[in-house]
Amino acid sequence: MARRRQLYEGKAKILFEGPEPGTLVQYFKDDATAFNAQKKGTITGKGVLNNRISEFLMTKLAEINVPTHFIRRLNMREQLIKEVEIIPIEVVVRNIAAGSIAQRLGIPEGTRLPRSIVEYYYKNDSLNDPMVAEEHITAFGWATPPDMDDIVHLTLRINDFLTGLFLGVGITLVDFKLEFGRLYENDEMRVVLADEISPDNCRLWDAKTNEKMDKDRFRRDLGKIEEAYQEVARRLGILPEAGSRDMKGPETMQ
Ligand code: TMP
Ligand code: ASP
Repeated sequence: MARRRQLYEGKAKILFEGPEPGTLVQYFKDDATAFNAQKKGTITGKGVLNNRISEFLMTKLAEINVPTHFIRRLNMREQLIKEVEIIPIEVVVRNIAAGSIAQRLGIPEGTRLPRSIVEYYYKNDSLNDPMVAEEHITAFGWATPPDMDDIVHLTLRINDFLTGLFLGVGITLVDFKLEFGRLYENDEMRVVLADEISPDNCRLWDAKTNEKMDKDRFRRDLGKIEEAYQEVARRLGILPEAGSRDMKGPETMQ
């Protein structure tokens, strides 16, 4: 196989040059970090599961006309995506108080919020991804007001859709983080969903027991992390047939 050029390595993923101009290959690692990489670890099989879960959710979203960067899954750990210009904002949607909002505002974890709340964080590791307002985003030009209109509109649609999809398999979507990018096609620019949607960037609780089925098991040392990610995939009906034996998957070819 031809050598591929690595373009970027993040905490949980690597981006390689794609086979055609305008495409990239997104490789999912088993590495996990929390608290801006102060805590580091490995979740065996996470990359394989997140690749599959993200493929599933992005495909479902495309079916309701949410534009995404996803093209197709290539193998156990890689997917082909469209190259986009990433907007340096993490968009967090919350339905139930947990994590930083619970801490910051003193709301008991598990409290249903009066309505879904959208928050923005500026993607900047050296500043620890500070929370910002739309004012900062547009004033500093990280995104334009029309970009923000698209982002809010898409985010709320994604939240409604995913809340229902997860509820259908007995999972409460507590909160999640999205990233968006600008896709330039035929002289037109569109804001599209990018990055991934997986238990790494969602809080997913069992709808009956409220048991955590996401990366909080790693952040808070709750154990059974691999099992929780697998259970999410199993409920979505997409657990790779081979099961956990083959979770390591093929290594990337460089
Ligand atoms: P928070 O409660 O820590 O602010 O997290 C809100 C949601 O965003 C939660 O589902 C986890 C996700 N998240 C990320 O995906 N990346 C991050 O760096 C952080 C801080 C949160
Ligand atoms: N991914 C983030 C980090 O390590 C934090 C998190 O997800 O909690 O920086």
